[in-house]
Amino acid sequence: MSSIAPLTLADMESAARASMDAATWAYLAGGAGTERGIAGNLQALDNVWLQPRALQGGASASTECSILGTQLSLPVLLAPTSPQRLFHPEAELATARAALESGSISIVSTDTHFCFADIAEHAPQRCWFQLYAYSSRREVDASLDMAAEAGATALVLTVDASFSARRLSTRRAGFHVPPDIAFGTLRSLGIGDGSVPANGRMERLALSWQDLERLRRRWKGPLLLKGVLDPNDAQRGVDSGADGLIISNHGGRQLDAVVPSLWALRRIVAHIGRNRPLLLDGGIRSGTDIIKALAMGAHAICIGRPYLWGLALDGKAGVQTVLSLLHEELQDAMMQMGMACLEDIGPDCLVDPSGLGALPKSWRPRHE
Ligand SMILES: Cc1cc2nc3c(=O)[nH]c(=O)nc-3n(C[C@H](O)[C@H](O)[C@H](O)COP(=O)(O)O)c2cc1C
Repeated sequence: MSSIAPLTLADMESAARASMDAATWAYLAGGAGTERGIAGNLQALDNVWLQPRALQGGASASTECSILGTQLSLPVLLAPTSPQRLFHPEAELATARAALESGSISIVSTDTHFCFADIAEHAPQRCWFQLYAYSSRREVDASLDMAAEAGATALVLTVDASFSARRLSTRRAGFHVPPDIAFGTLRSLGIGDGSVPANGRMERLALSWQDLERLRRRWKGPLLLKGVLDPNDAQRGVDSGADGLIISNHGGRQLDAVVPSLWALRRIVAHIGRNRPLLLDGGIRSGTDIIKALAMGAHAICIGRPYLWGLALDGKAGVQTVLSLLHEELQDAMMQMGMACLEDIGPDCLVDPSGLGALPKSWRPRHE
């Protein structure tokens, strides 16, 4: 990184890009097909404008919140990503420690280099287990038992990534998972031999709503679905026992031209309300983005690529820098807008361009 400390996540992005080879960067940054899904997430956030209020105090602002019983210093969780070993030798261990020390939560993928039990030891009460279903239903049950035993405080079922994605930029760059990267959690479960398969990919089971109901009966703690974008799916998910949803299009990595997650959030909130935790991820890059997501109805957001930039640059400390920049930006924006706490953030904080209304007649130019 340059000698000037990063002031934004964009600074970290350019430094991270300069620190790695083009193929690894393509895997980290890229998405499906023409990557309209990635662009859409960013544009959807850019097209929303904040509405500050005058004379509201604003000498301080608290960014603290609680999600499913865990106190967070800011409404930001670390989305599951893999394989983190591409970016730093300490991989998920560094991310978990950063989550613990920054008062966040690390959502840990099934596809980790280190095994989940070791990762969870680095951040007691602050690791959720994200399930990818491999091999057979029996092995899936064993994964849940392992995660519960290791102290996962929630289970996240990712529902949008059972099949290989067409990641063209990643393919064009010639990316392959290097052989020194392992699947530590899978090895600990006896699934595969813990090494990267020749085609670089372990096949996953395609799950159904019946599987969700079965998992719900087996997993005793909170369960969230990640990757829900449709209001009817959101309703069905909560009817099937999900305690919360992560509204996500996988950062545009699975389906090209997918609906921006911010738009999906808006439709889901209108359909099912907000009486259980709704998290959003995809394209969050600043404190003002967080306010936009919360004002649209999210209780918290997750970041994926941004903390991997930090991890690549400086391991645990780099992830903490990302979280502390977001904290600083969020607090500053809240104070500028006259909000003392996250509960003050609501639809009134946004200007909906479609609801601006017509200009009053008195403003018409004289020559009309
Ligand atoms: C390199 C990388 C690996 C990912 N691996 C996983 C994964 O193992 N499981 C999962 O549910 N999502 C995975 N995701 C998706 C993220 O959890 C998250 O949905 C997405 O990154 C959010 O968008 P953002 O990167 O714009 O913040 C991955 C994302 C990236 C960038």
